[in-house]
Amino acid sequence: MDLIVVSVAQVGDVADGEMKPIDVSGRSMILANVAGTYRVFARECPHEWVDLTEGYLDGGTVVCAQHGYEFDVETGECVTSYVWCSALATLPTTLRDGEVCVELKLPT
Ligand code: FES
Repeated sequence: MDLIVVSVAQVGDVADGEMKPIDVSGRSMILANVAGTYRVFARECPHEWVDLTEGYLDGGTVVCAQHGYEFDVETGECVTSYVWCSALATLPTTLRDGEVCVELKLPT
């Protein structure tokens, strides 16, 4: 499978423990800084499509403001113990020359 690497931000654009909305090739995503590690994940909650920027980061999880479901921002897994929910979409993230980059799969 072919991959492309796309720069989405400069290192330092998002402070530790913060997140902000970004556009990644037309996809509405969120960039988060988790103790110096950058994560990129979908802006819409997979439960009922609420904007996750209305929620907050709690360490390595994002908490949705609507029903409080928590998602691991690295794996996308819903980690709230009392529910089942499909996973949050995430993108692999790397740092290159001071830029935060994501890997995108090219359509085949
Ligand atoms: S809409 Fe996000 S937890 Fe329900």
